[in-house]
This record gives sequence, structure tokens and C-alpha cells, in this order.
Amino acid sequence: MNIKCVCIALVALTGGFYACDSKKETDAFDPKVTELLSQMTLEEKAGQLNFVVGDLFTTGPDGKPKAPDYLDEAIKKGEVTGIFNIYGAEYTQTLQKKAVEESRLGIPLLIGADIIHGLKTIMPIPLAEAASWDLEAIELGSRVAARESAAAGINLTFAPMVDISRDARWGRNAEGAGEDTYLGSLIAAARVRGFQGSDLSLANTIAACVKHFAAYGAAEAGRDYNTVDMSDIALRETYLPPFKAAIDAGAASIMTSFNELNGVPASGNEYLLQDILRKEWGFEGLVISDWQSISEMMFHGYSKDSIEATIQGINAGTELDMMADLYLSFLPQLVREGKVSEAVLDRAVGHILQLKVDLGLFDNPYLYSDPAVEAKEIRSAENLEAAFEIARRSIVLLKNEKQTLPVKSTVKRIAVIGPLGDNQADMNGTWSFFAEALHPISFLEGIKAYAGPGVEVTYAQGCNLYDNSTEHFAAARAAAQRADLVILAIGESAVMNGEGASRSDITLPGIQQELVNQIAAVGKPTVALVSSGRALALTELEAKVDAILATWTLGSQAGKAVASVLFGEYNPAGKLPVTFPRSVGQVPIYYNHKNTGRPFEGDFSSQKLEDRVYRSRYRDVDNSPLYPFGYGLSYTTFEYSQPVLNQTSLTDDSPITVTVKVSNTGDRDGEEVVQLYTRDLIGSLTRPVKELKGFQKIHLKAGESRDISFELKASDLAFWRADGTYGYEPGDFKLMIGGNSRDTQEAVFSIPNP
Ligand code: NOJ
Repeated sequence: MNIKCVCIALVALTGGFYACDSKKETDAFDPKVTELLSQMTLEEKAGQLNFVVGDLFTTGPDGKPKAPDYLDEAIKKGEVTGIFNIYGAEYTQTLQKKAVEESRLGIPLLIGADIIHGLKTIMPIPLAEAASWDLEAIELGSRVAARESAAAGINLTFAPMVDISRDARWGRNAEGAGEDTYLGSLIAAARVRGFQGSDLSLANTIAACVKHFAAYGAAEAGRDYNTVDMSDIALRETYLPPFKAAIDAGAASIMTSFNELNGVPASGNEYLLQDILRKEWGFEGLVISDWQSISEMMFHGYSKDSIEATIQGINAGTELDMMADLYLSFLPQLVREGKVSEAVLDRAVGHILQLKVDLGLFDNPYLYSDPAVEAKEIRSAENLEAAFEIARRSIVLLKNEKQTLPVKSTVKRIAVIGPLGDNQADMNGTWSFFAEALHPISFLEGIKAYAGPGVEVTYAQGCNLYDNSTEHFAAARAAAQRADLVILAIGESAVMNGEGASRSDITLPGIQQELVNQIAAVGKPTVALVSSGRALALTELEAKVDAILATWTLGSQAGKAVASVLFGEYNPAGKLPVTFPRSVGQVPIYYNHKNTGRPFEGDFSSQKLEDRVYRSRYRDVDNSPLYPFGYGLSYTTFEYSQPVLNQTSLTDDSPITVTVKVSNTGDRDGEEVVQLYTRDLIGSLTRPVKELKGFQKIHLKAGESRDISFELKASDLAFWRADGTYGYEPGDFKLMIGGNSRDTQEAVFSIPNP
């Protein structure tokens, strides 16, 4: 294979840094791959590009799980490269044996799965983990998921999902790292490191598949699979960097997205798959389609029939056909007719075979299918402990009036009320098909365990998750009446977020707010545990309760993690990775927006003449969010000094060091995420009002103060400029440091003209 990789010269003419370095010239395939390619028929090559779901369950439309007989035959005939969404050491061993011993070329199988946040030990959903701002914990979460999956025969996960989304209506927020490109990029890399470890061929690491390329999170109106139309600048600045970060971290594969981007479906999009992915970024791994996304190009109105979809898909660079069955059916003939070049086919097959080599499958097809390791690894004490630790780090304290939390020792009767209070299955969350519904620790169980024998803990369901029945209200009110403290467990169920789970109303579902109102009227101190896979509009709830914990969906150890925070064993330190709006009408709302020519920061009810009409504002709600990006309280308090800069002029050779004194002014030890933001005041293209540029998660003892320093380089201020180049521009900047994106201390600096 000798495919030239041309590096597009995105050369900045003035100072700044360059987007592109020179990449490897060829796909350097292993000799094993080259040898196999020389032996394969066109049918066998097409078979290596065919990826089918297993016989367990299905994760897409028109899908019935494949029948075991079908899989059997397809494997023997070399008509599938692998099977996904199956697991089990023994089962996968049987399948590998069939492939290796009974197909003509004996090529082992790729066994893929949607291991989004764990196989059997379920970690918090990715959005929750992002709220920990703890890259080590996040990497460990993926590591545990990889260990369990690898032991169960899986060698490829369809994760991490790195789609940035600024629209809380989109259900797949749950699977990503939130709204911010900088945080999202660091998390993307951490997850890849977690899944892949240092060596893909080890028995306890699996290949990552970064998805969905690209801009899937920007679906219009937050409706899943919907159209995306955006400027190239927005694409490059906001949506692409997490993919680049994952690839730089070594991600072995990438998945195309369902959406069209500026009129071209992602699976047929040469600009994305060739110009950016291969040529600019030099990606040498495998490109996988999403479920039937190649055939869906017909519905998009881009391909007139299956043949055209096949040609457009493979030529654009979509290499593995997931469930459309087009490549297997049409590619051999299309190559014979000269409509698809064999070199294109070989390159795609080369990438898949190379991945199998890298995974060590040719050396040992049973590497990932060891029943003894599986028995030891699945839900080991170590894995469960990791899930617990990560879960409590993911919890965000949004409100804590009258120091309602942590639970005081004077509290002797607790009423847990709400549809998620005594609920295990929903704790697993979206994308947890492999997990057992009855494994997670419920909130009730966790609270009982931490409350101890001297405290009476009762439970009342109050209402169902979705419907409007009020039949259980009276019992819930009675339970609240008897209690010293009410803990409301409310929010979204697992299926209310994830794929195909967009919501137009992001307040509490069903009759839950009415339940809150009824319980609040009883007048007892009330804490709300809010489960969700997205930012919710919690304005009404906020007005009614004393304390709120965002508990997302926390996985196997949910109840224990929540109780650990409620009872003060762990001092919460999570920070929001998404902006919580006041109302759904503000969506999309995100912290790093532009300023507009008529900015408005006042109160919506202001009647001052200068505020009244000609301002970028709503008449019925403030512009500001209910809880800003980066926000989260602690049981202690932190104070920030004015930032001190070692110099106020920033050049290529001389970064700025900014130092701020952070003090724990409360009476408990605690952790704080110190966040650094900048604003480029004037640009050749306008810049956001704030951009996250760094953060440090620190631990301070009660009363302790510490100087925290960040280094800011000129290249940190680079952006896609008006002339299409990437780099910084001279001028004046603002720097902001604080414990969230709203409450910050400021300083100024500048980049001088060259
Ligand atoms: C469709 C989803 O978009 C993708 O994320 C997932 O990996 C595949 N289905 C396989 O389940």
C-alpha cells in the first residue's frame, strides 16, 4: 500500500502556531496484512468490511438480533469481519474458533460492543464522570470497563463519544463530556488511554472507537439524527478538537455520525474523512460506519440507490459497514466493473486487518476470551471500589441552604420519597445492556446503610416516573410529615436519555414537580437528589427545596456514593460540565457564547428605558443560566485572591504565569476545581466572552491557603482566524480565575504586535 498523505498547508502567515505537521507517507501495514491481502478474493475482502450485531440484542432500527445459525454460516464463509454487542469468554471463544479453524483464511473476529460506561461494573454515565473534572478517575473508569470487557471476549468498544453538545434537549448528552471543547478534549484523551492502555495487544486492553465524526451533537433543535449546518470555523473550533485529541492519544478507530453536515451525510463526507481525518490529521486507523449510516444516505437524499450509497461510502473513506449489508452485497461486483478501485478496497481491508494484528488476535485469537480471568475480573471488589470512588466524585452540590447537608446527627427520621428512591435498574443508566438490573445499590439501600441503626429510614414512592397519577401523593405527604428530613429522589429514568431520547421539555418528567410542591408544603428540611443524563431546567424545583444534588446516573454504586456525600463522609467537589438553564427556551445556552452587538446582563424584569427593548434579551427570563458551567458547591467555602501575573505581556518565548491564592475558609477539608478562563477582546473574527484554558483540582484542609499557578502560552490563545489560518492575534486579553465560569477574579494582559 502506498497511499500518499498530503498535508494541507494551513500555514499561518504571522506568528502563531501551525495546525498541521507532516504526517507519515504511507499506511505501514504489517507483513501479515500484506500477505493476507494478496490471498483474498474480492468476496473475502468485502466480508472483512461487514460488521454485524450479535444474537443477544439489537441497538438499531430494523434490527432483530442475528440468528445463531446465520452467524455460524457467515463466520465460516468469511462474510463477517466481526460481531458486536455480544460478550462472554466462552461464547466468544467458540466464535473465534469457528473463524480461525473453519473459514478459508482463518482470520480472527473483531468483537465489538457499546461499552460506554462499563460492562458489568457500571460506572457513572460519561456526562457524570465529566462532572468530576478528574482525569485520573475518568481514565480509571475506562480502564475498569476495558478490563472487564477484554476478559469477556470483547476487543473493541464503540467509545468514547466525544461529541460536544450545547443543547440539553439532545438525549446523547449523557454519553459525552458536556459543552466545553477544552474539557472535552482532555477527557476524550483520558478515556482512550483508559481503554487502550499502553499496548493494544495486551489481554486487558481494548481498541477505542471515537465517535461520532462529526458534529453530531449539534443536531438542529436537539432532535437526534437531525441536520447539522454550521460554519467551518465552528466545526473546527468547537466540535473537532476532542476527536483530534482522541486520535493523538492513539484511538484505534473512529465512527462516522448519522447527521449530514452542510448537505453531505457524514458517512459519505470526503471533506471530513479524507481532507481532515486522513490528510490533515494523518489518522491511520479504521473508520467504522454507524448503524446503517451508509444506506441512510438514501434517506438523506444523497444517494439514489444502494449501489450509489456503497460507492459514495467507500470512496469517502467509510471502511467498515455496520449493519447496512451494502459492502458485502455490492463491493465485489463494483470492483469488477471498475466502479470502485481495488486499491480503495484494499486500503479499507488493510486497516481492519491491521487492527486485528495490533490487538494481538493473529498471535492468539483467544487472548480476550479467558473464562478464568473473566470470573476474577467481573465486578471484582477493586472494580466496584473504583466505581464507588468515581461516582461520588461525579456528584454536584447545586444548592445547600441553611447547611441542610451534610445530614446532621440530630436527624432521627428520614423519609426517602420519589420514583427513583428505591430503584436499582435505572441506576445503571443508558447504554448498560450488559449489566444486571438488580445489581446497583439503590439510594434507599445506601442511605439506610449510612444512616445506621439509630435512624429510621422510610420510603414512599410518591409518583411514577412518567405518568400523571397522584394516587401515591397522600402516602408521600404522610411520610414527610413524620420525618426530620426528606430526601426526594427525582428526575429522569435511564431510558429518558441516550440515543433517540431527545426531549423538548427538560423539566422534571411527569408529575414529579407537583410531588415536590406537595412535599415542600409539608415544610420539612428537604434535599433533592436529581438524576438526569443532561442539564435540566430546575427553576421550579430550586424554589421549593433546601438542597439539591445533581446525581446524574451513577451506576453500580449509586446509592453508596450518594449516601457518602449526604452523610458527609465525602465532601462533594463535582462541577457542572454543562450549563443548567432557567428555562428550555434559553437552549442552546452555553458559557462560551459570543457577546453580540447589544449584550444584556441585567434582570429580565428591568423596565429601565435603556434595557427595555433593543437588547439581546428575553422578556420573560434572564439571559443568565440557573447554574453556570463549572459550578458546584462544597460543604466548605473557598475564597480567591486577585490573580497576580508575572508579566502582562505574552510572547511566543515568554509564557505568562498567573498565580491566585485559594483559601479554604470553612471548617471542613475539601476539594476545589480552580478554573482559568480567557477572553480575547478583539479578533479578526469575534471571540467568545470566556474560554476555559486550564483547571486544577486541588485539596485544601480547613483553613488552608495555597498559591495555585497556571502557565499561559501564546499558543493557548490560538483560534481559526479570518484568513482561515490557525494562530493567535496580538491585542488585549482578559484572564479570569474562579471556582465556576461566572464568579471569577480578573486580570488583563496583552500580546504585543510582532
Ligand atoms: C448507533 C449509535 O449511534 C452508536 O453510537 C452505537 O455505537 C451503534 N448504534 C452500535 O450500537
